[in-house]
Amino acid sequence: MREEHKLVTGIHHVTSCVATAQEDIDFFTRVIGQRMIKQTVLFDGKAPIYHLYYANANAEIGTVMTTFPYRQDGRKGRRGSGQVATTAYSVNEDSLDFWVKHLSKYGVAHNGIEKRFGKNLIHFAHPAGLQFEIIGDNRDTRGGWTTDEINEANSVKGFHNVVMSVRETQAQHDYFVDALGFQKTNQEGDYIEYSIGEGGPGKTIVLRHDANLPQGSWTFGEGTVHHVALAVADDERQKELKLWLEGLGYTDASEQKDRNYFHSVYCRSPGGILTEFATCDIGFATDEPLAELGQKLQLPPWFESRREEIVAPLEPITVPAPR
Ligand SMILES: [Fe+2]
Repeated sequence: MREEHKLVTGIHHVTSCVATAQEDIDFFTRVIGQRMIKQTVLFDGKAPIYHLYYANANAEIGTVMTTFPYRQDGRKGRRGSGQVATTAYSVNEDSLDFWVKHLSKYGVAHNGIEKRFGKNLIHFAHPAGLQFEIIGDNRDTRGGWTTDEINEANSVKGFHNVVMSVRETQAQHDYFVDALGFQKTNQEGDYIEYSIGEGGPGKTIVLRHDANLPQGSWTFGEGTVHHVALAVADDERQKELKLWLEGLGYTDASEQKDRNYFHSVYCRSPGGILTEFATCDIGFATDEPLAELGQKLQLPPWFESRREEIVAPLEPITVPAPR
């Protein structure tokens, strides 16, 4: 195996644009049952937008869902091809019956238990229209967060995979296999599964061939996934990967951006989906203690002097108390 194919280790996080902040917090912390681990703001551009982070009990890389509540700005996204279509979490295989009842209790529409690649799953939507799945896969041993209604045995462990909608598959296959080191491991109808390392939860991406689905929007906009981030260990590995991508001709790999909790390089994949390569060596306990993650709005040092002006337009929110 090429050394460059060992740089990406799996999914780091998924970032989506939602509607209002409180609705999003309620969905991820009560319906999905993730732990709110950070409230900060969008670092790019000038619009005052929250950046909310949710994860598992240990705020581990590969479990981190992040959202921009874009109703504040008013820009709507258009779902379509060239986007991450579905974000999938993994749970214990025997907890799917619990999830059918739990989703129904919250009025979340679903079609019951379905099957893909030999695994049972439930497909449902976030109130902003984003598509999610919960997949039973006992290989996932990550520690889930618990709530008053969701115990450890039923909890979501972290991401299982993301499904990317593409109008053509070949160039996207080349990007994931030849550039990033994934291997094609399964195909079922229009779904093609790719794995990195040992594969399984957090180390899987899926292409869905949607030959006739019009292209979705690329901007930040309510109701769309903005990007998927893949994990690289540190700055050094990230730099190696950027040089490797550039050498292959993917010369739009961005400069490194400081996201306070990780460092990021972005590259638009051939299928239209924005990918990010984020480092794993900083973490979320840099500006607040691990036990109190997500309780207070955190700004990066370079925004701190403008705190009042940044915070004033943001929707007031209530977050779950620490457990
Ligand atoms: Fe990101």
